Amino acid sequence: MWLQLDGEGPLYQQLYRALRRVILEGALLPGARLPATRSLAREAGVSRNTALLAYEQLLDEGYVTARTGSGTFVAASLPEEPAPAPRPAGGSGGRSRGPAPTLAVSAQARRMLAQAPRSGVSWDMPRRHLAYDFRYGEPAYADLPLETWCRLLGRRARRASAVRLAYGDPAGAPELRRALAGYLRRARGVVCTPEQILVTHGSQQAIDLVGRVLIDPADRVALEEPHYTGFSLPLSAYGAELVSIPVDEQGLCVDELTAQPAVRGVCATPSHQFPTGGVLSLERRLALLSWAERRAAFILEDDYDGEYRYEGRPVPSLQSLDRSGRVLYMGTASKLLFPSLRIGWLVVPEPLVRVFSLAKAYADTGSATLEQRVLADFIEGGYLERHVRRSRVRNAARREALNRAVERHLGGTASLAGTRAGLHGLLWVHELPGAREAELRRACAARDVGLYPVRPYYTHPPPQAGYVLGYAALSEADIDEGVRRVAAALEGL
Ligand SMILES: Cc1ncc(COP(=O)(O)O)c(C=O)c1O
Repeated sequence: MWLQLDGEGPLYQQLYRALRRVILEGALLPGARLPATRSLAREAGVSRNTALLAYEQLLDEGYVTARTGSGTFVAASLPEEPAPAPRPAGGSGGRSRGPAPTLAVSAQARRMLAQAPRSGVSWDMPRRHLAYDFRYGEPAYADLPLETWCRLLGRRARRASAVRLAYGDPAGAPELRRALAGYLRRARGVVCTPEQILVTHGSQQAIDLVGRVLIDPADRVALEEPHYTGFSLPLSAYGAELVSIPVDEQGLCVDELTAQPAVRGVCATPSHQFPTGGVLSLERRLALLSWAERRAAFILEDDYDGEYRYEGRPVPSLQSLDRSGRVLYMGTASKLLFPSLRIGWLVVPEPLVRVFSLAKAYADTGSATLEQRVLADFIEGGYLERHVRRSRVRNAARREALNRAVERHLGGTASLAGTRAGLHGLLWVHELPGAREAELRRACAARDVGLYPVRPYYTHPPPQAGYVLGYAALSEADIDEGVRRVAAALEGL
């Protein structure tokens, strides 16, 4: 690939423009792979960081897509018209827009492709090494009792017997469902039998099961605005009509939900609204439950980081207050332990156990059992609760450090919201318009800081720039330095 830099402005901008030109002129066709940043940097005579920044801008603007582990590719549909393709002398002159489909795909698949995310979902966020990375969704890997985990894993693996190698119950290993029933009662007040628990592949599979069991095409399903895109992307692919309900510092505005006609169900994050951080008050919890009872609607309660609470009185999970069997409660090991475990749980009301077990069986005949049994041992041995207690103390100190750092370096220019619970806060930058969110992100990346815009989580993005700041994986000193660099980057804009 031959690139000509135009010599104007920052190097990464020059490289970005040169690459965009190459794409629009059709020298790189949709689906084509771009060179790795290292070789591009060598070829263009720039630093690797410059190449990374140029790729990020192309990614932000939709010219390329990134697939973790496999590289950067020209997007299937470009945000602007390609320049007319130069006709190669003597050639056919035809330009391919990527591989022609050989099979018709379903309406669901078409919706999936049409809405494919450009950014904002955990599995699609480009990963690069940054010294001060406020990437949301990362637990503190250094705090994990990995030795204990590995010891329990080794013990279970050595004990593998013919029976344990066979198919198990698709709904999950009985040991884990028993252990989870006890843990969820103690930690989150969840009232259920082990039979009501389905072990899923992360909470993402729980969302998928709810989408298939409870939602028909054209059903109206309410989501918080802003919301976790892990809900909206699959549910709209299944044909649900999504209804946005605003949130405030107390979480979902239940009054606005009850004013909506014909809503089949709602997906909510009551313990720590994602991403704004509000905690649903008891009064609103009761109002929500009573709405669900009157309308025979379901509530999918996403309790993704409810264990981490630093202020105020503990609020019971919605499930613990549900008397009419309307709440489906889901949780995940991704925040308590680590995301690659891909273990989550869905607690369903008794009358729905059979149909959800069938849906899980049809999806995958059950999750792999070895790690389920290890997690059961980890819970029964008391290691999980010990780990959560310790992590809560450490995360409380990190949260303090973040609040202090924002006050010290960004006081007056930005404010931090939603840190009463969980593992992230939401930084609103007062004077920066939302349309410039990516600009600050790139300026931060040039200073080795990872900053993640809040826009992808909104259906109607706010006028102001905001960033989801995950702080659990950073030390207190790094949090302070990271925020100091954000302030410096902001000043440079
Ligand atoms: C709001 C929310 N729910 C759930 C999850 C966890 O998803 P999973 O269990 O599929 O890893 C996340 C992860 O980032 C999240 O942000």
